[in-house]
Amino acid sequence: MAIRNILVEGDPTLLKKSRRVKRFDDRLASLADDMIETMYESDGVGLAAPQVGVLRRLFVMDTEGEEKPVVFVNPEIVVEEGVQRGVEGCLSLPGLVGVVSRPLSVTVRAQDLNGDYFEETFTGLAARCVCHENDHLDGILYRRRSETVLCTREEYEEEMRRKAEIEAAMRQEGDAPHDGAIPEHAADGKGHDDISEGEVDA
Ligand code: NI
Repeated sequence: MAIRNILVEGDPTLLKKSRRVKRFDDRLASLADDMIETMYESDGVGLAAPQVGVLRRLFVMDTEGEEKPVVFVNPEIVVEEGVQRGVEGCLSLPGLVGVVSRPLSVTVRAQDLNGDYFEETFTGLAARCVCHENDHLDGILYRRRSETVLCTREEYEEEMRRKAEIEAAMRQEGDAPHDGAIPEHAADGKGHDDISEGEVDA
């Protein structure tokens, strides 16, 4: 096993579509091993092959934190249900977060390292991660999907804190129409309480 270099935004490889894996050989197993080690080393919950410069449809994931990584080869999302809005990050956009809407649950059909097919349903964080990694295989970075301008986690938390203060002040005034001192975006109806928190660098 070896730690591989993770490409960061700006590298054109990250915007390319990956090709299907056809050979289920030792080289593929070795790539998956390296990706798993690299994911853990970087405190990520998922890592896709293009992020280490290999344009093949393969990603690894461990959202349980129990060192039980799952390898997905040639994955296809066959069912999507519901919607979740949450904070997302990416090992290829280090230090940044954004709010992204994803399905609440997804069913994935994929192959394992032997080429055998499996189908599994994931919810919550795991569903978010599957969608994020699957996007990487199509050359899509989450910046394209983010509903907020990407910022650091500290900036995001500061923004949420300020927003909560404004909302609390408004509640104290009984939601009465205000004289305009409150920024418009504070009343856009998109409360942050529906945003699930969780570290999702993937
Ligand atoms: Ni990512």
